[in-house]
Amino acid sequence: MEPKYLLRLTFTLLSALFLLLVFSRSYLHHPYPASDAADFLDCSLRSSCSLRSSCCASKNPIQSKPTPATSSNPKKTRPNHEADVPKHPLDPLTIQEVNRARAALLSHEPFSSSPSSLTVHSLVLDEPDKSLVLSWREDAPLPARKASAVVLFRRKPYVLTVDLSTGQVRSLPPPASGFPTMTIEDMTSSTWAPLSDPSFNRTILARGIRLSDLACLPISSGWYGREVENTRRLIKVQCYSAEGTANFYMRPIEGLTVLIDMDTKQVVEISDQGQDIPIPKSTGTDYRFDVAGRNKRPRQPYKPLNPISIEQPSGPSFEVVDGHLVRWAGWEFHLKADARAGVVVSGAKMTDPETGGRRGVMYKGFASELFVPYMDPTDAWYFKTYMDAGEYGFGLQAMPLVPLNDCPRNAYYMDGVFVAADGRPYVREDMVCIFEKYAGDIGWRHSESPITGMEIREVRPKVTLVARMAASVANYDYIVDWEFQTDGLIRVKVGLSGILMVKGTPYSHVNQFPPKQEMYGTLLSENVIGVIHDHYITFHLDMDVDGSDNSFVKVDLARQETSPGESPRASYLKATRHVAKTEKEAQVQLSLYKPSEFHVINPSKSTRVGNPVGYKVVPAGTAANLLDPRDPPQVRGAFTNNQIWVTPYNKSEEWAGGLFVYQNKGEDTLAVWSERDRPIENKDIVLWYTLGFHHVPCQEDYPIMPTVFSSFDLKPVNFFESNPILGVPPNLEKDLPICRASASA
Ligand SMILES: *[C@@H]1O[C@H](CO)[C@@H](O)[C@H](O)[C@H]1NC(C)=O
Ligand SMILES: *[C@@H]1O[C@H](CO)[C@@H](O)[C@H](O)[C@H]1NC(C)=O
Repeated sequence: MEPKYLLRLTFTLLSALFLLLVFSRSYLHHPYPASDAADFLDCSLRSSCSLRSSCCASKNPIQSKPTPATSSNPKKTRPNHEADVPKHPLDPLTIQEVNRARAALLSHEPFSSSPSSLTVHSLVLDEPDKSLVLSWREDAPLPARKASAVVLFRRKPYVLTVDLSTGQVRSLPPPASGFPTMTIEDMTSSTWAPLSDPSFNRTILARGIRLSDLACLPISSGWYGREVENTRRLIKVQCYSAEGTANFYMRPIEGLTVLIDMDTKQVVEISDQGQDIPIPKSTGTDYRFDVAGRNKRPRQPYKPLNPISIEQPSGPSFEVVDGHLVRWAGWEFHLKADARAGVVVSGAKMTDPETGGRRGVMYKGFASELFVPYMDPTDAWYFKTYMDAGEYGFGLQAMPLVPLNDCPRNAYYMDGVFVAADGRPYVREDMVCIFEKYAGDIGWRHSESPITGMEIREVRPKVTLVARMAASVANYDYIVDWEFQTDGLIRVKVGLSGILMVKGTPYSHVNQFPPKQEMYGTLLSENVIGVIHDHYITFHLDMDVDGSDNSFVKVDLARQETSPGESPRASYLKATRHVAKTEKEAQVQLSLYKPSEFHVINPSKSTRVGNPVGYKVVPAGTAANLLDPRDPPQVRGAFTNNQIWVTPYNKSEEWAGGLFVYQNKGEDTLAVWSERDRPIENKDIVLWYTLGFHHVPCQEDYPIMPTVFSSFDLKPVNFFESNPILGVPPNLEKDLPICRASASA
């Protein structure tokens, strides 16, 4: 095959990943020279900046890493991760530790007999027991470092732990069904596999598509009870025409599905329908600025926005200690990239404004699983029910963030160290960013009206700290923000953008739809249907509110009727507290007409006036899963049957869809664990919250979607004695020098 053809074929994301991998590896061998920390605010970047020294010369006080390069700043310096050593019990595996674990695995029986048959699907820190992490104090030696590995060897999965000091490898029983998360190499090679089948080539050519314009996607095939699904790792490949656009997703070759054995790369089955469905046009589908911008430039309907950026005259207020420990405004938490979860926030503690002591809020929080079922039961669509963390690796799919656009100028960037299928480490640069956000919001306020005769105007601005990642799981992009507020609130926010999965159709106008035919979506453009689908993101939230032993309390609000003659009022709302004794009592489906608050309290700690200290999970806009619980994908996605679950802490219950999600039968989900109905009162408990979105596509989502956000909050409830940000000073003009006064309103 010609090199040009090679380049075009593999789907864009995966080739980018692969290049990155190659780049990261060569970077490991030729590290950039370390240089002094760059100026956090580089005055020379801003032509309009008059030379007020307080504004322009701030140094970045963050120790570990300079602000990343931007296109206007070519002096890119990178931290050299090769020499990283772990400083905290939860620090991810370093490059050296990955290499040590790999060596131990390769010399372990039976892998040592044929090291090249071993593929590494996951190699991560096996976190020390929670008690060891909680009792660890800074500067004390770290608990024993161990790695947890999932590998395939001659088609058989193994779950192992590696003691990194002794090199000892221990094998654990693998889950009853399913397979490990795919490797990037699995996904890449699967997209090539159909070309080995002459009938595939023939049908592509017969549809008038050049083989050099093919772009193919690896689509997890789920579990539908077929015998072959029990023993072989399968994937369905569907292809697109990339002719005339980078946005090949809008040009599906509809109805053509190739079932591939992921291990042998053999074509198992080809389903070739839809030959009469045209490939939608490429015009207007490209979203790249240099392409879309050029085509659209003559029609600028309004004056473009002036540049905008926030300034931190004295530098940022947060610090990142030893690469992972973040401290800001009384908060402290450990932050790391994770190949499966994306980011993991651990040991979140908040300083009590009264005592100055740090109080625990959450031991560990992360996106445990994503579930994205499409609502089209036809042959080429029914299996599209992705689980992006357990099948694809939510972190593996997170690309480097784009400075000034993904994150503002004042952002600090963190890299991830991941492991390729051959067990070697590589660096995913700039995978997470951390920045202080000021969006002009208000922390608290009060003004007095003239009625009282008091001239009071008290307002405090709201500044928050955001830790952000963005994963591009093939077509879709997910933005995950962990936003910390000074008042103790944590907002977990998920944004959806990227490109829809669309379906080719013969119709170019809705008036051509046959009256009784189900379309499964919206006609977005000529011959393009955006298929209805849901997104669920299930978060694992191991709350440790002022200590590990907590209870889950539903505070139910219900109408209370007054007795005849008791009051002019007929009714009022009454709050009743129900402490959940066992898991089933904590299975919650939200309802506007049966409202509750959901508290995680520490029953042995109370405030001065006697309320138990707590945090509550506060849902915002969300969606419930309405699929039949017996629908095969829903059996596997049963962790979305409720919005809230509470389980007793169990180190091996981290992944809501099970440790092995790929092609599993759903026998190891959060729903199954919860059915054990274990006691959860005054115990170390884990709260699970599922954020959902129904998505009925609309024309504005074409050719790329404006971001849709939703979120939920973890909010203090009687955790503090009073408003914890009462003492925050207001902003004054003198505190906020600007580079050029006239540039600001
Ligand atoms: C299909 O086409 C590709 C690209 O031209 C070629 O490399 C491959 O060998 C063909 N497959 C078969 C079975 O002929
Ligand atoms: C911990 O979780 C595993 C996996 O679900 C389960 O097999 C085990 O019984 C659990 N332990 C307890 C004490 O619940």
